Amino acid sequence: MDGLMFLLVLSLSSVLIIQTSEAQICLPKKHASLFIFGDSLFDIGNNNYINTTTSYQANYPPYGETLFKYPSGRFSDGRMIPDIIAELAKLPLLPPYFHPGNPDFTYGVNFASGGSGALLQTAQGYVIDLHTQVKYFKNVKKILREKIGEEEAEELLKRSVYFLSVGSNDYGELLNVTNSTVSLLPVDKQQFVGFVIGNLTNAIKEIYEQGGRKFGFLNVGPIGCSPSIRILKNNGSTCFDEISAVARLHNIELSKMTLKLKKQLNGFKYSVHDFYSSLSQVVTYPSKYGFKGGSGGCCGSGPYRGEDTCGGNKGIKEYELCQNPNDYVFFDSHHPSDKACEHFAHLIWNGNYTFNKPYNLSKLFQL
Ligand SMILES: *[C@@H]1O[C@H](CO)[C@@H](O)[C@H](O)[C@H]1NC(C)=O
Ligand SMILES: *[C@@H]1O[C@H](CO)[C@@H](O)[C@H](O)[C@H]1NC(C)=O
Ligand SMILES: *[C@@H]1O[C@H](CO)[C@@H](O)[C@H](O)[C@H]1NC(C)=O
Ligand SMILES: *[C@@H]1O[C@H](CO)[C@@H](O)[C@H](O)[C@H]1NC(C)=O
Ligand SMILES: *[C@@H]1O[C@H](CO)[C@@H](O)[C@H](O)[C@H]1NC(C)=O
Ligand SMILES: *[C@@H]1O[C@H](CO)[C@@H](O)[C@H](O)[C@H]1NC(C)=O
Ligand SMILES: *[C@@H]1O[C@H](CO)[C@@H](O)[C@H](O)[C@H]1NC(C)=O
Repeated sequence: MDGLMFLLVLSLSSVLIIQTSEAQICLPKKHASLFIFGDSLFDIGNNNYINTTTSYQANYPPYGETLFKYPSGRFSDGRMIPDIIAELAKLPLLPPYFHPGNPDFTYGVNFASGGSGALLQTAQGYVIDLHTQVKYFKNVKKILREKIGEEEAEELLKRSVYFLSVGSNDYGELLNVTNSTVSLLPVDKQQFVGFVIGNLTNAIKEIYEQGGRKFGFLNVGPIGCSPSIRILKNNGSTCFDEISAVARLHNIELSKMTLKLKKQLNGFKYSVHDFYSSLSQVVTYPSKYGFKGGSGGCCGSGPYRGEDTCGGNKGIKEYELCQNPNDYVFFDSHHPSDKACEHFAHLIWNGNYTFNKPYNLSKLFQL
């Protein structure tokens, strides 16, 4: 008994020593912060604080039921990808930009807004578009300069990682949903992708001008496989591939764009996670990754629980909730469960070249 106690104390204190010495070497001088931009895959509660509708919010039960135990605004039963990435990067949980009080931005901050895209028109008036998110980042830079000094702030922003999930909602605007069927609007897809990539590029360049050098990207997933969209076609038995095809087009252009920026911008470094592949994998082979359901959601109604009614707050009161969200890739009709977010975050952080090009996010942090 005593021996065991002694061992425990010993190992605890050695952990403490390691943490203290790490703190002396790395913090606050050498840590890299994490700045998050984008849509609902990354939003951890910013939309709680803006004038919008419940369609763009997740601050009511059963969101948050598994972890946190309260509906924080995350579109999941628990954590979202940025929460887990922060953990893997040994950073504290990042606050949403609009968190009341004076949140500490030294380790980074999250600007993402559910429903937003690269284009101003996407859900205009209901979300914080990417351009405005970058404007808020400039404000954070000001705050940091006042807090830790000009030189230190410049160094910190240079070491930090800027991680973005952008595009799905822009392409969502191309869907023509009538009478519970779906088709694509007759627009020039290549040109539309060009607009999205063009506006995303401008945002990256603005962050670069502010001193950002390391950029992480989530490319656009197989949009047509989200339960809300698949149920509009063949009663959910297959994905709506026409919209996923636009996502594939976007992803090709995103790869080209990052290569181009690497040539144009001195010191520009990046990591693109192929979310299209990683999400397709778990949707197609759920049991291989420990999920029971890959096609349907945990919370919603109708076939595959694909109708966007989770929480009973969007005009329809009745909805179904599964027993164990961990069994599902999707928590609601659009967004991954805590368990799925954990799977994706680990692939983003430490996955190989198949999923991350030219390298994974842990490498981007180290560079
Ligand atoms: C919020 O939006 C509603 C409806 O669009 C509008 O009536 C209201 O004035 C807005 N409130 C604020 C604070 O902007
Ligand atoms: C939608 O369905 C209703 C009833 O089934 C029908 O009257 C209407 O013409 C349909 N509208 C379109 C645009 O197909
Ligand atoms: C949307 O689809 C409906 C039929 O499903 C069609 O009648 C309508 O013309 C389409 N709208 C546009 C703008 O293409
Ligand atoms: C940004 O998007 C708008 C459409 O919202 C488009 O007119 C404009 O050309 C795009 N900008 C770039 C640089 O592609
Ligand atoms: C669609 O699926 C639902 C339940 O999943 C089923 O009740 C319905 O009969 C199906 N409709 C068709 C046309 O297959
Ligand atoms: C991810 O990057 C790290 C750092 O470069 C590397 O050690 C690791 O092997 C990579 N993971 C995989 C699975 O390639
Ligand atoms: C990457 O890892 C996956 C399994 O996670 C494996 O199937 C694939 O062959 C690996 N690719 C490379 C390039 O090592």
